[in-house]
Order: sequence, then structure tokens, then C-alpha cells
Amino acid sequence: MFAVYAARVDRDDPLSALELGDQPEPAPPEGWTTVSVRAASLNRHDLWSLRGVGLSADRLPMILGCDAAGTDEHGNDVIVHSVITDPDWRDDETLDPARTILSELHPGTFAERVAVPARNLVPKPAELSFEEAACLPTAWLTAFRMLFTKASLAPGATVLVQGAGGGVSTALVRLGSAAGFRMWVTSRSPERRAEALRLGADEAYELDARLPERVDAVMETVGGATWGHSVRSLKSGGTLVVAGATTGDASPAGLAHIYFRQLSVVGATMGTVDELRRLVRFCVSNGIRPLIHEVLPLQDARRGFEALDAQNVVGKIVFTV
Ligand SMILES: NC(=O)c1ccc[n+]([C@@H]2O[C@H](COP(=O)([O-])OP(=O)(O)OC[C@H]3O[C@@H](n4cnc5c(N)ncnc54)[C@H](OP(=O)(O)O)[C@@H]3O)[C@@H](O)[C@H]2O)c1
Repeated sequence: MFAVYAARVDRDDPLSALELGDQPEPAPPEGWTTVSVRAASLNRHDLWSLRGVGLSADRLPMILGCDAAGTDEHGNDVIVHSVITDPDWRDDETLDPARTILSELHPGTFAERVAVPARNLVPKPAELSFEEAACLPTAWLTAFRMLFTKASLAPGATVLVQGAGGGVSTALVRLGSAAGFRMWVTSRSPERRAEALRLGADEAYELDARLPERVDAVMETVGGATWGHSVRSLKSGGTLVVAGATTGDASPAGLAHIYFRQLSVVGATMGTVDELRRLVRFCVSNGIRPLIHEVLPLQDARRGFEALDAQNVVGKIVFTV
């Protein structure tokens, strides 16, 4: 079957490790099922994989892609939850020490078909297109968990999102705005700040800007480039939720700010299958949809990878199969 895969890993030139072509059909083990992929969305994780982050050479070639919406073996429209746990794990899937996400240990979703555990399928409602549904399982699910599970926010709280243009950030703005939080964002680019305001952000600031007041929570996926501002922007007792570090680790960490103002620093990774079901319901009942930058046929996936690598994307890139 046709697939988009990492043939090698290359830390400095990830796109040189990307190949498109024939890969073996999925061979689902006991308890797994095969989904015919209709749409799959691109994440920064796919670029990390090509760089060898979370993907070792002994697992190559590896079909990339964490997110998919498609049709199961019985013809039902489904969304794929990407977190794969030990078959005996019954707790929060993201807490299983042995968990992986599709494309790390098991072939991913940038293919005509993908094998997943049957319990990882969530019904796709008719209100969401396959393209919209394919944006939910990674970036949007992570944003949902950051805001609603990890941040302990009261209605009307003020939330700062660092880096407005990203897949996770645009999801945070749409979700937080629909939930009634006051959403503030930062971005390097005036165009992305304007887009964030169109998406529902209440204010958009330059990176490192002095805010009119300190915020209840900060949503951090940028890492080193914004960490100091995140720590300084929180009010006493506030919460910093961190789910990514695109620009690398944070140094200095701002420990004095953290203990003196009694900040909580909370990690977040992906979400549970139950959170994915609730996210889907939240989108349908509030009429919110992912911001899609571009839809491309899977055969043109390289163009999508190039755009994400060049940071020319606001929202999500979706591949159709
Ligand atoms: N923990 C998890 O489960 C999980 C899930 C999803 C994603 N992640 C991680 O979260 C991060 C974001 O993911 P994504 O899919 O949203 O990626 P993305 O779409 O590529 O977004 C990157 C974001 O980083 C900002 N940015 C990039 N370089 C920057 C710089 N030098 N200075 C300031 N801001 C910069 C951009 O903001 P502007 O261009 O607007 O300034 C943009 O919002 C990635 O590192 C990803 O691996 C983790």
C-alpha cells in the first residue's frame, strides 16, 4: 500500500529521511483492527521522528503519522486514538510507562490503512468532516487535556498561550475561548497574532511583551524561547502547563519565581480515549472546528512537511487518502 515513511533518521536534515512509496499492509495482532484512512494530520512529532527523536534506527522504515480518521472493518466512521498501551493496562492511558504513540513502535497513519487496538476507536460524528476529525487525536487532544484536565481553571480565568500559530496553540485558543476563558496569546508574527484574534483570542502580544496583568495559567509548548516569560507572567499560585519544547529546554528555569510565587508546573502528554470522546462532543456541541491551514493529497505529503519545517503554517496540515 502507499505510505509516507521515515527511511532513515537525520538530525540536521530531517526531510532527506522522508520517503513516499510502497510499504507492507498492516498485520493486526489479536485485539487489533484495521482502519482505512480517509484523512490524517501532520504534527511536529512527525518532524521529530525524522530527526530520530523517539524513533530509533532499529525500527526503520517507519510509517509516520499519529492522527487519523477513517472507516473501520465494519464500515463505521471512526477517529483513531493514537496512544498505544500495554494490552493489560486499564488506567489513564497516558500514564502507562510502556505507552507509545502511533509511528513510534507501530506503523503510523500516513498510509492507506493502519492497524490499531480495537479499543482505540472513537465514533466520528457526521458533524465533523474526516479532515476536521483527523486534527483531533494529537494536537487538539493535548490542548484539551492541558486546559481542562491539568490547569484547574475557574470560569472567566485568564490564560496565556505561548506561540499562537501552532497546531496545539490554535486548538488552545479555540477550546479556551469556547469554554469562556479570557485567552491571551503571544506570537513572533503579526499575521499569526491577527489570526489568533480571528480565532477567538482576546488579546495578542509580541513575544516577551509585558502583559497588563499576570495570568491564572500559561500554556507552554514553545520551551526555552518563551519559558522565562511564562514564569514571569503568572500570578501567585498560578499554573504553568507544559506539553512541548519546540525551541529546546529552558535555562534558567526561574526557580526563584516558581517557589516565591508558589507556581505549579504541570506536565501534559496527549490524552486518554475518554478525553478524546469528550473533545469530540465538545467540538460538536459548541460548533468549533480545527483551524486547517491546508489539505493535501497524501501523495503531496512532502509539501506539507516542507511547510511545517519552514514554519509557514498556521493551524493544521491535513493529508487525504
Ligand atoms: N506532549 C504531547 O503530547 C505533545 C502533543 C502535541 C505536541 N507536542 C509538542 O508541542 C510542540 C508544539 O506542537 P505543534 O504541533 O503545535 O507544533 P507547531 O504547529 O509546529 O507549532 C510550533 C509553535 O512554536 C512556536 N515557535 C516555534 N519556534 C519558535 C521560536 N523560535 N520562538 C517562539 N515561538 C516559536 C510557534 O509560534 P509562532 O509562530 O506563532 O510564534 C508555534 O506556535 C512541539 O514541540 C510538539 O512536539 C507535544
